[in-house]
Amino acid sequence: MSSVVSSQRVVSGMRATGRLHLGHYHGVLKNWVQLQHEYECFFFVADWHGLTTEYADPREIEQNVWEMVIDWLAAGLNPGSATLFIQSQVPEHAELHLLLSMITPLGWLERVPTYKDQQEKLRDRDLDTYGFLGYPLLQSADILLYRAGWVPVGQDQVAHVEITREIARRFNHLYGYEPGFEEAVEQAIRKMGKKQARIYRDNRRKYQEQGDESALETARALVQDQQNITLGDRERLFGDLEGGGKVILPEPQPLLTPASRMPGLDGEKMSKSYGNFIGLREEPDDVDHKIRRMPTDPKRVRRTDPGEPEDCPVWPLHQIYSDERTQEWVQEGCRNAGIGCVECKKPVIDAIQAELDPIRKRADEHMRNPDLVRTIVADGAEEARENARDTLEEVREAMGLKYR
Ligand code: TRP
Ligand code: SF4
Repeated sequence: MSSVVSSQRVVSGMRATGRLHLGHYHGVLKNWVQLQHEYECFFFVADWHGLTTEYADPREIEQNVWEMVIDWLAAGLNPGSATLFIQSQVPEHAELHLLLSMITPLGWLERVPTYKDQQEKLRDRDLDTYGFLGYPLLQSADILLYRAGWVPVGQDQVAHVEITREIARRFNHLYGYEPGFEEAVEQAIRKMGKKQARIYRDNRRKYQEQGDESALETARALVQDQQNITLGDRERLFGDLEGGGKVILPEPQPLLTPASRMPGLDGEKMSKSYGNFIGLREEPDDVDHKIRRMPTDPKRVRRTDPGEPEDCPVWPLHQIYSDERTQEWVQEGCRNAGIGCVECKKPVIDAIQAELDPIRKRADEHMRNPDLVRTIVADGAEEARENARDTLEEVREAMGLKYR
């Protein structure tokens, strides 16, 4: 029986796209680095998800995986704080995917908006495959395998967390009942003692009859705090509260990553495919060069021509990297031609160099020590598997696959 506290667990994955840039750092990685101190985190490279679109030419995946792991470590993800691993090194993801595929209606997968969208977008490939249709289900398995309560993702992935919730609900509905469930629940309630039992029943009624969410919260907290009931009882009571059977696979919630507004070198969103990015491991000289070459407000042909920060791609970078005083200096100096563009870019260059400096150093250390990187993800996979096996054991049992 599990003692997983879902509300403390975070899981997220990233497809292996190779080296990461400042857009990934400001959008996702900084957030993960923060979360690793607040939650029990599982972060993995979704290499199988990569195969769903790259199956015809998978040669780059391996290299991309290692590059990405190095960038994670460089950005400050710490194997002592978070479990870092590669999806395909934890085969339990595949088993859960298969088992969940048995109960997943095709229509649910066909209706996930990313399915048709991505097929349209990647028209040069044949994505009429079983694996591609199953992409969101594999993601559901990734999440449910760790019984995580939270999934940090961008807006574009919310639909995938939503289908995960539906699949968990369906699974619990189909298999969450056990013979003697009602009596087991009654016994568990009595074990809490008279007073607590009354509070439990009152709140359960308030939630079930009036939909009072705060009553549900209160009752859940009460159950969570009980010392003298078993872990199995605890899960039964959680199931009882929500009017179902036992919760075997808890429903996760998206933890929306604030949309990254990291602007690229041309003012568009920073992206690998636009070629407007600054890589996390880029050499100081190259960073310097790239920013110096950035276009500015075209009205500033000569140094004496006044400009408008709103029409200049350098300005959004100041909004990210500069304090208020510097921003005022830019606004003024640009509009009255008091400063030149080279001068104006200087604080941005300095700030980016200062941000990248420790990242480059850590990347360097790990690039010089590939064995260490391999050990980190091997240990991560081992740790992940221990958790995954517990879940699968319950899942197999619930589905009638426990042969003893
Ligand atoms: N589909 C996600 C993306 O493209 C990557 C991913 C795979 C993922 N498995 C996951 C994210 C599980 C969160 C949880 O970004
Ligand atoms: Fe852009 Fe700064 Fe030059 Fe103004 S002074 S055009 S904000 S680089």
